[in-house]
Amino acid sequence: MSNSSLIPLIKDYLKQEMTLGNWDSVAPETLPPDPGDVKAYLAKKTAAAKKPDSKVESEPLSKFREPFKIGSGSKAEELKRLREYALGCRQCALCKTRSNLVFGSGDPEAKIMFIGEAPGEDEDLQGEPFVGRAGELLTDIIEKGMKIPRKSVYIANVLKCRPPMNRDPQPVEIDNCTPMLACQIRIVRPQVIIALGAFASRYLLNTKSGINALRGTFHTLSIDGMAIPVMPTYHPSYVLREYTVEVRRKVWNDVTQVMKYLNDKQV
Ligand code: URA
Repeated sequence: MSNSSLIPLIKDYLKQEMTLGNWDSVAPETLPPDPGDVKAYLAKKTAAAKKPDSKVESEPLSKFREPFKIGSGSKAEELKRLREYALGCRQCALCKTRSNLVFGSGDPEAKIMFIGEAPGEDEDLQGEPFVGRAGELLTDIIEKGMKIPRKSVYIANVLKCRPPMNRDPQPVEIDNCTPMLACQIRIVRPQVIIALGAFASRYLLNTKSGINALRGTFHTLSIDGMAIPVMPTYHPSYVLREYTVEVRRKVWNDVTQVMKYLNDKQV
């Protein structure tokens, strides 16, 4: 195996060890295992990390955190305060492996809020949601499809920190992180939410149903006396993987319903 193909494996190995809290293995005096061992090690740990009750994520770093209290400032001011609060979060191990917190971005006064799953590599590096390939597609959906500027909507994720190797968010991470998303929704008070993919849809609608069953019709999120319509649709990463006319037509159907809803409301 060449040195250049070994480097990403070693990087993943070190990140995984940090996620697990195995600081001894990443200490400089400990040599990484040889390439064969790294592969076997990663396969084993990835399988372990996929188990919902895995030890990896089940150990909060600080068990209790004072909940964030929304104040009387403007939406922009309260989101800024919430971001500071999120930066101090140490409730799961993801804060150790992330490069940046990906809090959310867009217009605090937005009518439409998009909610995705979790930051990927590009988002983690830039600290902004949906800036990679899936983000380019989302921007096209918003700007070319819905014909509104991306900066006029608000975009956030279920998780604020990137799960290593883009694995699925674990239940304990969702439990720890979503109170911050709930505060974002309470502050922005959007007129409609578009839930991107199964994780966001299931959290918002408190259901275990799959995205195929949920998408295409409005559901309701009841929060703080508000009843916010939620339109689940496919996640842009899924659309990129399944780039068929049928999938794209379904997403188009979903966002068209949202635009119609907003237009009818204005009349
Ligand atoms: N996928 C997500 O769910 N969110 C992002 O921010 C990027 C990719």
